[in-house]
Amino acid sequence: MLKYIVGIESSCDETAVGIFDAAEQKLLCNVVFSQIDLHRQFGGVMPEVASRSHVEKIGLIFQKALDQVKISIDQISAIGVTTTPGLAGSLLAGVCFAKGIGIALDIPVVPINHHLGHICSGWIDEDHKILEDLQFPHLSLSMSGGHSNICLVSSPTEFKVVGKTNDDAAGEAFDKVAKLLEASYPGGPAIEKLAQYVSNHDYFNYPRNKFNRPRAGEENTPGLEDPNLSFSFSGLKTAVLYDMVKKGYFSEDLKRTYKDLDQTTKGKIASSFQWAVTDTVLQKIDYCLDIYPGVGQVFFVGGVSCNNFIRDKLSKYGKEKHVDVRFPLRRLCTDNGAMIAVATYFTLISPDYKPTPLSEIDVFQQ
Ligand code: KG4
Ligand code: ZN
Repeated sequence: MLKYIVGIESSCDETAVGIFDAAEQKLLCNVVFSQIDLHRQFGGVMPEVASRSHVEKIGLIFQKALDQVKISIDQISAIGVTTTPGLAGSLLAGVCFAKGIGIALDIPVVPINHHLGHICSGWIDEDHKILEDLQFPHLSLSMSGGHSNICLVSSPTEFKVVGKTNDDAAGEAFDKVAKLLEASYPGGPAIEKLAQYVSNHDYFNYPRNKFNRPRAGEENTPGLEDPNLSFSFSGLKTAVLYDMVKKGYFSEDLKRTYKDLDQTTKGKIASSFQWAVTDTVLQKIDYCLDIYPGVGQVFFVGGVSCNNFIRDKLSKYGKEKHVDVRFPLRRLCTDNGAMIAVATYFTLISPDYKPTPLSEIDVFQQ
């Protein structure tokens, strides 16, 4: 019988371990070591630094998780680990560790897709149990530093990416705009704070994603990728850059700075940018609900879903349109092992589950 399921996450800059109790259907712990302080000096994630830190920390974080739950290593029933997508060296650190535990204890090692992990992060309620009113199919918009995906989730282990970013991810755009505003890494929380300083107004009306809403009956032509479902956040970042050049702050190549940015201007730019991202997300949800009429629940997950302004606007939209819009617990928005443990549980109980031989468990960047 399945009991304690461990989830390992090391795809980017968090070394994380979660434990899910399959018998009680309850998440028991979520231990995360964030490398943010190590990468801040580089203004972004440095892959070599990230993988070394994972190797250094994974054993300690794993032991801390066992200690928190007060279990010994031989009580673990299965171990799941993120194998894709992510930074190759970072993924390898977690995968090698999980394989070692799998061999030592002779338990299943389950390769988990990071996107499925984020999708599952939204299914844990405040009591750390699986949501009782979870419905399928539902939509999951997953936005982080590495990806912006719209997923149509048809069962606990099956999802289809129906839309994704053509260039930068939403979180990446937050990070890059924050850099222009001389704010620290990661940019999301910094932008959110700056925008609050000017009461979250939309001052500059930055361009929204191009959106040609098709006429009824002409949506979603089978076999063709629907351009209305893809994101482009790089253009938005460039619009912010050009606006700042126009306002006389620096040269286009960023090599020359002409005048200092004051707090109010930073706030106005941050807030207008945040509005443009939010409107883009709302447009996508609205469109998806039209073309997928069977969908009653929408989850907004990933690091960007920490953002209170976006949460408020999406919740308001949900109330107006009678759509059930949900968000993960805050500590499960950014990368964590708990979401991987939950994804592992659902994978193991799926009727389609087939054990993967250890020799076939490999890492994939995309
Ligand atoms: O999911 P995550 O931890 O890692 C990836 O899988 O990439 O997401 C990190 C991203 C960063 O780009 C960060 O700026 C963004 O999530 N983020 C936010 C907020 N907090 C974190 N973006 C907007 N508002 C926030 N409050
Ligand atoms: Zn992630």
